[in-house]
Amino acid sequence: MRIGVVYSRLRVEEKWLFADLEKRGIDHERIKDSDFIVDLADPQDWQRFDAVIIRSLSASRGLYAAQVFNSWGIPTVNPYSVGEICVDKVRTTSVLAAAGVPQPRTMMAFTPESAVKAGEALGYPYVVKPIVGSWGRMVSKINDLDAAEAVFEHKQMLGGFQQQIFYLQEMINKPGRDIRAFVIGDQTTVAIYRHAEHWVTNTARGAKASVCEVTDEIHAISQAAANAVGGGVLAIDLLEDPERGYLVNEVNHTMEYHSTVPLTGVDLPGMIVDHALKLADKKTKK
Ligand SMILES: Nc1ncnc2c1ncn2[C@@H]1O[C@H](COP(=O)(O)OP(=O)(O)O)[C@@H](O)[C@H]1O
Ligand SMILES: [Mg+2]
Repeated sequence: MRIGVVYSRLRVEEKWLFADLEKRGIDHERIKDSDFIVDLADPQDWQRFDAVIIRSLSASRGLYAAQVFNSWGIPTVNPYSVGEICVDKVRTTSVLAAAGVPQPRTMMAFTPESAVKAGEALGYPYVVKPIVGSWGRMVSKINDLDAAEAVFEHKQMLGGFQQQIFYLQEMINKPGRDIRAFVIGDQTTVAIYRHAEHWVTNTARGAKASVCEVTDEIHAISQAAANAVGGGVLAIDLLEDPERGYLVNEVNHTMEYHSTVPLTGVDLPGMIVDHALKLADKKTKK
């Protein structure tokens, strides 16, 4: 049984994963994505892996690595089919909507002019986000028509093709925090609040974490969101709406957990390795 780990940089997340693999004497190999070269027509080399944990910093490297391993029958944490949904906010919203998972009202438009109209249908203030992104980058609050026109024109003129897809969302009047729940298989293992003065509550932007009890309700909505995208090792971001209760904001397929582990004492790296071992076991039994 051999586990591969595709990674870009040794952040604490990866250090903890390798420490766990070493401590348990699990045969494993580090695959640095910058050195990764594959002959796509000759997968023989890579058959030595029974499962691969994908930890690339770059969403595209992670996705394409998962894609090739999965096409050779090697399971990945997470699979390409899951990453391909989570990486794209339009895909995620559509898949969650089809599964009946509650979310903020979200609109898509293709031109600055139609984006302005979509925003007026949502009502000011509303939120505009890049369809691919993380750490709260370029997530913008639009308070009025002037801001809308400015942001949409800038996206149109300066952005790449992904910026030409306008993704707009109603602003949820959340209580100065959001919730991140960590799902591994059918368990909602732990959750944290992320508090900030600013309305963007990513820890990468300075939000402070505190423990959030995983209630039945949080478990239920987190599992529903995880199952909708195909399940695996996922971080589900929830917004608390004063009237509607929990809404799913997004599903992350390669999450960070450097704040959550010391805060809660929950051994997420160990659980991720367990999940990979389960997938590897299923593969070898096939
Ligand atoms: N519709 C919204 N209403 C209120 N706050 C939001 C909304 N969308 C995002 N946020 C805030 O912005 C943060 C970043 O947005 P998110 O969609 O998670 O983007 P990213 O993928 O960059 O993390 C969220 O954690 C939340 O605090
Ligand atoms: Mg987020």
